[in-house]
Amino acid sequence: MKSPLPDLVDRAGIEHLVNSFYETVREDETLGFIFDKVAEINWETHLPKMYSFWETVLFRSGGYKGNPLAVHAKLAPKTEMGKKQFDHWLKLFEETVDDNFSGENAGHIKRCAADMANVIHGKINNIPDPKFDPANLTPDQRARYAKYKSQPEQES
Ligand code: HEM
Repeated sequence: MKSPLPDLVDRAGIEHLVNSFYETVREDETLGFIFDKVAEINWETHLPKMYSFWETVLFRSGGYKGNPLAVHAKLAPKTEMGKKQFDHWLKLFEETVDDNFSGENAGHIKRCAADMANVIHGKINNIPDPKFDPANLTPDQRARYAKYKSQPEQES
């Protein structure tokens, strides 16, 4: 019988997950060219950044500082960054987790990825949060919101 898969418990596990995920992504028809042709990213700096990102999400260490929303918002005018791409990204991410790990942290990292994919996709495509209704704001909050809406989006 196959022994059960380990859980994601440390940086080494995260490095393994991230390396496997991007090996798949680079080969992928829907997503690979976005990294290599559109963004022309430097993998030597991207991969360590992603180790830190996930270490920060999962263990609150890792020291990731960055603005993923701004990074993806800049990609959106250059290539298709719609639901199809985000659903596919998430599917590949979840499959990579499930192929290598199982347990509480493995479940948690998949839920975090799903939440962030949802938020990034919604924000860069200007999809309003369904839970947010300006009608529910206090007059004070409504005034602040109107002011915010009238300002152009800020670059990071
Ligand atoms: C359609 C789906 C996605 C595509 C095509 C995509 C593509 C990219 C690319 C090309 C970069 C590098 C940009 C650059 O350095 O110039 C990047 C960075 C990054 N992505 Fe994504 N991404 C996707 C979804 C996600 C999701 C769902 C997450 C989070 C769970 C995520 C997290 C990040 C992070 C943390 C960075 C580094 C940002 C920084 O520079 O600080 N990505 N992504």
